Amino acid sequence: MNLAADLALAVDPVRLARRVGLDPDPWQSALLRSDARQTILNCSRQSGKSTTTAVVAVHESEYRAPALVLLLSPSLRQSQELFRKVKEVRAALAFDVCPVTEESALRLEMVNGSRIVCLPGKEATIRGYSGVSLLVVDEASRVPDELYQAVRPMLAVSGGRLVLLSTPFGRRGFFFHEWTEGGEAWRRVKVTAHDCPRIPCAWLDAEREAIGEWWYRQEYECEFVETLDQVFGYELVMSAVNSEIPPLFGGWRAAQPQDV
Ligand SMILES: Nc1ncnc2c1ncn2[C@@H]1O[C@H](COP(=O)(O)OP(=O)(O)OP(=O)(O)O)[C@@H](O)[C@H]1O
Ligand SMILES: [Mg+2]
Repeated sequence: MNLAADLALAVDPVRLARRVGLDPDPWQSALLRSDARQTILNCSRQSGKSTTTAVVAVHESEYRAPALVLLLSPSLRQSQELFRKVKEVRAALAFDVCPVTEESALRLEMVNGSRIVCLPGKEATIRGYSGVSLLVVDEASRVPDELYQAVRPMLAVSGGRLVLLSTPFGRRGFFFHEWTEGGEAWRRVKVTAHDCPRIPCAWLDAEREAIGEWWYRQEYECEFVETLDQVFGYELVMSAVNSEIPPLFGGWRAAQPQDV
């Protein structure tokens, strides 16, 4: 690849996506070009959130070297699934990617000093990384709060980017909390199945019948629905909360730099 072409890919990740055969939807282009520190993708099943984030990860490792990119999911198997997409993007770039110095089922290390690492979904074994440039949390609504608290400090000093991607899974946990109460610090993106040009309406109608309203509204309409076993609704509980009374025990709280 000549220098001008390489520079064009460096400046515009959308070009990188096109080069690997992906014609990004408008929200995907916006994600690829965004430099928001914190992004939440509340996007329908099969809308392309993992694929687009894989392109973001490859762009980071190629053009912001030496970058440390961490991929986290509820389980190691799911992290590896995202890792597989990262490798597919690299494979599609063929000889234009930076050569690898070390490769395993869980990590890639490149000549330019960048690393892409899959994390297991267990809090005890993921500590120890610092200088993280990009942290991707796939299927975030299923990732336990303790795990999220354990990884957030890895961005404290580096100022790296954080991308949470998921469909909702009840009105609970950090994914719901950051979406509803996380404040201005987040760029929020919602993409329902109807916004996705590749999911046919007739298929969605059949799916609604098959999986029922509760699942359908979360998986395809990106709505945070009360959990089936919830005795008291979220609104009812929130209306009973009094901020002047200090909690007896620590509730959910975003990790602070001093937690590192
Ligand atoms: N812009 C696009 N153009 C064509 N195909 C796309 C585009 N974006 C994604 N796809 C394809 O859509 C399919 C689903 O993509 P992907 O697995 O990234 O979605 P997802 O939102 O992560 O799905 P899930 O919720 O099931 O994890 C893949 O086959 C992917 O290649
Ligand atoms: Mg996915």
